[in-house]
Amino acid sequence: MRHFHYKENQLFCEDVSVQEIAEEFGTPLYLYSKQQLIENYRAIDSAFADVDHITCYALKANSNLELLKILAKEGAGADAVSAGEIHFALKAGFSPSKITFAGVGKRDDEIEYALKKDIFSFNVESIEELAVINEIAGRLKTKARIALRINPDIDASTHPYISTGLKTNKFGIDIKVAIETFKYAASLPNLLVDGIHTHIGSQILKLDPFIQTAQTVVAMIEELRREGINIQHIDFGGGYGVTYKNAIKHPLLPVEEASNADETPGNNAFITAVLPILKQAKCKLVIEPGRSIVANTGVLITKALYRKDNGVKKFVIVDAGMNDLIRPSLYQAYHQIIPLTLNNVENEIVDIVGPVCESGDFFARERTMPLVKRGEYVAILTAGAYGFSVSSHYNARPNAAEVLVNGDKVRVIREREKIEDLK
Ligand SMILES: Cc1ncc(COP(=O)(O)O)c(C=O)c1O
Repeated sequence: MRHFHYKENQLFCEDVSVQEIAEEFGTPLYLYSKQQLIENYRAIDSAFADVDHITCYALKANSNLELLKILAKEGAGADAVSAGEIHFALKAGFSPSKITFAGVGKRDDEIEYALKKDIFSFNVESIEELAVINEIAGRLKTKARIALRINPDIDASTHPYISTGLKTNKFGIDIKVAIETFKYAASLPNLLVDGIHTHIGSQILKLDPFIQTAQTVVAMIEELRREGINIQHIDFGGGYGVTYKNAIKHPLLPVEEASNADETPGNNAFITAVLPILKQAKCKLVIEPGRSIVANTGVLITKALYRKDNGVKKFVIVDAGMNDLIRPSLYQAYHQIIPLTLNNVENEIVDIVGPVCESGDFFARERTMPLVKRGEYVAILTAGAYGFSVSSHYNARPNAAEVLVNGDKVRVIREREKIEDLK
């Protein structure tokens, strides 16, 4: 996250002091770097430059319209999981011919909406869904281009809530019945069976699960071709992990204890590992990165409201809550938390908690970090993915504002909700 850095002990995003932004726009506040977003997208997309491909950004990671417009302008495609996300993608300027539609529970009206918008492909997750899409496409006198999402039963070694490629997960079609299911799909008159889709999980830090999945996909395409089903595209999903620990290093910040398992091999390593395998199938390639494009593009700024020491533990209570960023509560996810101003104070061990009435409302537990006093700000790093997009109004808390930095300019890209906006 090179566009977030300290300058004379003040945190900067690109050319602007984050403290000044926090004072001007208030907290809790999501803050994004435009240059980081563009750099992340280009780094991934250019790694596929020599193959026919679409980088379909996974909107679920962050669907702020202004961020989407930047990616659409870069030429990205969109991976959507609801009619709402297709609507956002179209509104932001993504071409329908670059939109994929995944999800285990597509409603009939969503399928109809996507067919009418003429999207690139439905990533189909069950046999019943095939029949429903076929029926709706027939009624609309059109054909639906589809890929079947295969569940390869491969362990991505990630948190169980974000693992999706195991037999015990609800996603995709069991690998054992995949060929039969492809044959069934090919027999349906209103479907164009075009692709094979996999997405084995999120925040994956090992190369091996991706390599195994790529090998499985390529072998299946060969078998399908022998059976007369000519697969034209591979949608290899997303899931590339990012580094949450020691995302920003500074002599006045404690070094966070991290093992190899906390380090991402990097987007290029993921791509270099699978690309030669996938190329063997001579197909168009689709990828669906979300986190690896937006996570380190954004931080959540929050202000310390109170300090509390009950003799057993010290707490810093901040003005952001689990309704703003649920990842720590939901998956015990780790986010580095740093002061906006480094004052060369001693480190202490604290819990950083929010105001929500749940003991699970925390951002860090037993964390060694510089002492933070009432009124001081901290940045919760690497919060651009699955941050605002998963936020809620729990405890009737209005949503945070979002701002975008571009060089020395700062622009509000989502107004802070007011109490009167709550319905
Ligand atoms: C089908 C699909 N594609 C892509 C993604 C994006 O994953 P990530 O943000 O880990 O790249 C997800 C998220 O889990 C997904 O379910």
